[in-house]
Amino acid sequence: MARFLPVRKASAIVLLAALLTCFSDVNRQEKAGESVSYPPLWDNVPDSLDGFVIRNKTVINPWNYLDRMGMYKMLLNVTAKYMNHFGPSNTGNVLWGLPLQHGWQFKTGRLADPSDMSSCGQQTGDSLCISTTSWWSCMNYYLATIPFLGAVEAGFFDEWPFEIEILPPEDHKDDFCYNTADCHILIPDTMAKWTTFFQFLKKTKEFSQNKLSPTIPAEEDNVWQYMWTAHVSSIKAALQKFSERLTYISTPEAQFGISWGNAVDFIAATHFPTNFNQTNIFQVYLPQRMLLATDKAPSILDLSKEENWALVALDILYEGNKMTAGRLLNFWKRSMCSEKGREEGRHLLENAVSNPDLILPGIQKIILEFIKNHNCVPTDA
Ligand SMILES: *[C@@H]1O[C@H](CO)[C@@H](O)[C@H](O)[C@H]1NC(C)=O
Ligand SMILES: *[C@@H]1O[C@H](CO)[C@@H](O)[C@H](O)[C@H]1NC(C)=O
Ligand SMILES: *[C@@H]1O[C@H](CO)[C@@H](O)[C@H](O)[C@H]1NC(C)=O
Repeated sequence: MARFLPVRKASAIVLLAALLTCFSDVNRQEKAGESVSYPPLWDNVPDSLDGFVIRNKTVINPWNYLDRMGMYKMLLNVTAKYMNHFGPSNTGNVLWGLPLQHGWQFKTGRLADPSDMSSCGQQTGDSLCISTTSWWSCMNYYLATIPFLGAVEAGFFDEWPFEIEILPPEDHKDDFCYNTADCHILIPDTMAKWTTFFQFLKKTKEFSQNKLSPTIPAEEDNVWQYMWTAHVSSIKAALQKFSERLTYISTPEAQFGISWGNAVDFIAATHFPTNFNQTNIFQVYLPQRMLLATDKAPSILDLSKEENWALVALDILYEGNKMTAGRLLNFWKRSMCSEKGREEGRHLLENAVSNPDLILPGIQKIILEFIKNHNCVPTDA
């Protein structure tokens, strides 16, 4: 069975090692800012449809930060009982990654109008406004409104007596959809995957409060898989749809956005648990402001060492995957085909944060899984 790895695969692995070494450098630094926190203005965000009623109509405006975040808060609320088992006080909910990312986008000014033609999202203007010209806010629409409508379709809000209306933005109306029927036409694959995720959740028995076991039990792993499959599909669809929005932001910021989208494929393949705690831990490595045309990682002075290195690492991963025409991702995905492989993948990502000495042995284990999984045809997550 032992064979030499072809050169291309070997080079992909070297790139991966380089990437992880970058991360390990990061983590030798003092781990400041590891505090966990809720998204900005969390306490002002409505957690049920009652908060959206205007004269007997239920109206959600996804172009307002509180409203869009409200969709997340409601999703966390209505799915909580299916995920008791994943962690206390809903901290294990598989959806936490989405609102926390959105909070980071808001906090760092990424939802504002980048053209400065309007005051949408500007601190001095309509600070809660989410701009339709922002690449990040358009990308996020497919990760917010679409999941919400998926939950509506799966029956999570069936007891609500009123019709739920999603407001369109003032411009670019055709880039988005506002109800389940239209979303099935605009982005059928993505819409179907989010609905499937929520339907699956409904079918699972309501997990009882239990101890967290170190390996993810099959049932929980399925929930993560459905979520990541839908998540990856949203990003794929949105990347195609909104590439022209990248022209409004600086080249380094656009490059970061693209490479971040690429990294999500790798994270997804491990079924990584982006719950409340984990997402907070990882998110401190993302740049806390938008990148300027003159920014060049790893020497951006006003960003932390960690943020600088994370940018470099994301870039290496993106370039490495591009250079190998996607073979790096394929290598990774095949290694993640088995639960054992995904476990090693998650360990690798986690050890990259806390235990760099385990990185090389980790990569060896992943190569072993790659070889063992030779019959596997990887899926989307
Ligand atoms: C709202 O609905 C309630 C009962 O469904 C009704 O009594 C009331 O008149 C309605 N109000 C408006 C403004 O339509
Ligand atoms: C969901 O929201 C309702 C209404 O605000 C609240 O009473 C309830 O405690 C929330 N449930 C969870 C699990 O957070
Ligand atoms: C998140 O962290 C809190 C505080 O340390 C802990 O009690 C909780 O179990 C953690 N949740 C998960 C899902 O690991």
